[in-house]
Amino acid sequence: MGIEQIGVVGAGQMGNGIAHVMALAGYEVLLTDISDEALKEARELIDANLTRQVSREKISEAEKTEALARISTTRTLTDLGRTDLIIEAATERETVKQAIFEDLLPHLKPETILTSNTSSISITRLASRTDRPERFMGFHFMNPVPVMQLVELIRGIATDQETFNACMAVVEKLGKTAATAEDFPAFIVNRILMPMINEAIYTLYEGVGSVKSIDLAMKLGANHPMGPLALADFIGLDTCLAIMNVLHDGLADTKYRPCPLLTKYVEAGWLGRKSGRGFYDYR
Ligand code: CAA
Repeated sequence: MGIEQIGVVGAGQMGNGIAHVMALAGYEVLLTDISDEALKEARELIDANLTRQVSREKISEAEKTEALARISTTRTLTDLGRTDLIIEAATERETVKQAIFEDLLPHLKPETILTSNTSSISITRLASRTDRPERFMGFHFMNPVPVMQLVELIRGIATDQETFNACMAVVEKLGKTAATAEDFPAFIVNRILMPMINEAIYTLYEGVGSVKSIDLAMKLGANHPMGPLALADFIGLDTCLAIMNVLHDGLADTKYRPCPLLTKYVEAGWLGRKSGRGFYDYR
């Protein structure tokens, strides 16, 4: 199964990072989004992040130029019909993802592998609504994509070995490392990371510590590169809440109850870095 062209759906935080690393590894990338503005911003951000890698001598100027030349953008989702592997990295809402797959399916080559960068939604359920559950799986990158070494590869119940091997080969070509997860709520990384972040929010909610003390405690006391509240702002509080809800609903255990303070922040539109305000103020 030769993979040369990769389609990325969604030019947001994750989608632009995925396009960046795929192009740098030599793949032709077709990046799509419903908004021209999002595509323009993604291109500028990829350029800036590649420039940062050139200035740190991680890549050469020529590699940057070649990578940028491998990325095309389109607002027409159906243009992705000619690609060999599609990574959906749209909003973390199941209805949005399903609508994208529905629009895409009639235009895909039969052998095209369809994947989702979902951080928590059931791969088996997403796959069951497509015509290719055996060629569907989870391809989950970590943020910031150009920096983080891990990709979580998630098999749905029907994913075949050929599909899994093809995705593993892509991860290897990226120079990243894969951890394999079976399809249970939030897989491995978020099953462990999100309850820790949620607990940090409870620690704030119950007055055990201030934002500053909680983050300092975990940075210096547990050697985390970022405190859990700064990390929550970085990931996006709406995404954190969505993942806690998937854990709570899917595992039916009160230990996954989202902290009321997290819910309140999301209701206020305080979503972290992307909205300018979360546990910290970025305005
Ligand atoms: N593109 C390219 N390079 C980037 C980058 C980007 N977007 N962002 C940072 N970098 C590079 C910097 O250039 C720098 O490179 P050098 O090591 O060569 O100097 C390096 O990354 C570190 O960056 P900074 O010096 O700017 O800042 P830092 O040392 O504070 O690191 C960080 C920033 C990498 C984000 C670090 O704080 C970190 O690792 N934080 C934790 C991130 C994390 O846990 N991510 C996972 C979130 S969970 C997830 O994503 C799953 C999910 O589904 C929710």
